[in-house]
Amino acid sequence: MAEVTFMVDGNKVSGEEGQPLLPALLKVGCDIPNMCYNDEIPPFGACRLCVVEVEEGGRRRVVPSCSYPAKEVIAVFTSTELIQKHRRMIAELLLARCPDVPQIQVLAQKLGVQGEARFSAKQEGCILCGLCTRVCESVVGVSAISFAGRGPEKEVVTPFLDESKVCIGCGSCTYICPVDYIKMEEDDKVRRFPQWKVAFEIVRCKKCGQKVGPKRQLEYMAKKADLPADFYDVCQNCRP
Ligand code: SF4
Ligand code: FES
Repeated sequence: MAEVTFMVDGNKVSGEEGQPLLPALLKVGCDIPNMCYNDEIPPFGACRLCVVEVEEGGRRRVVPSCSYPAKEVIAVFTSTELIQKHRRMIAELLLARCPDVPQIQVLAQKLGVQGEARFSAKQEGCILCGLCTRVCESVVGVSAISFAGRGPEKEVVTPFLDESKVCIGCGSCTYICPVDYIKMEEDDKVRRFPQWKVAFEIVRCKKCGQKVGPKRQLEYMAKKADLPADFYDVCQNCRP
């Protein structure tokens, strides 16, 4: 991919042409809040925290840097008064939605949200960033969960609000959630996701007895990689 140079707050910065601005900006030390971006997953532009001003062709506008492509002909402004105002407003809305979520409290404080709340408070735990649904679909490849509902009713759910039939228990949704909303419980024998109404038997290594992983995930991985069905009967350490 061709390398391009653009101006960021008056300094020259290089990036890959067509790639999102955000990673290039973070790489040079710009402090840009972001809650729905991950390098491995197609951007979604859900949280709008990563907004910057971009000047291009004589026009200046506010864009989400996680989905705006790097180009030679642009100048980027990451922390103007307008941008700070935008981010504060978004943090305020997030805080009204999820007042008890520690990550949102920290964010709001950092961005200078203070005083009387201007938006009516809810008690949600999910910020609707879409990282869980996207990792499940585009990285794991199973689409066990998705968004349902509109506006204030929007939420992440399993198909028909029932036990997810295709979930493999990998836990990617739990690991990627920026606000620790998706619960995963595990004991010696079973891994559970109460919100998805699923539970998975844990396979233990036939030689040393260590946990290898949820049975359904191991079967899925073996099938995808065209490995023998008993490949994960032993853990990595005990494999010859
Ligand atoms: S559950 Fe977590 S990862 Fe999924 S949309 Fe909500 S905040 Fe994002
Ligand atoms: S990180 Fe860009 S919109 Fe969320």
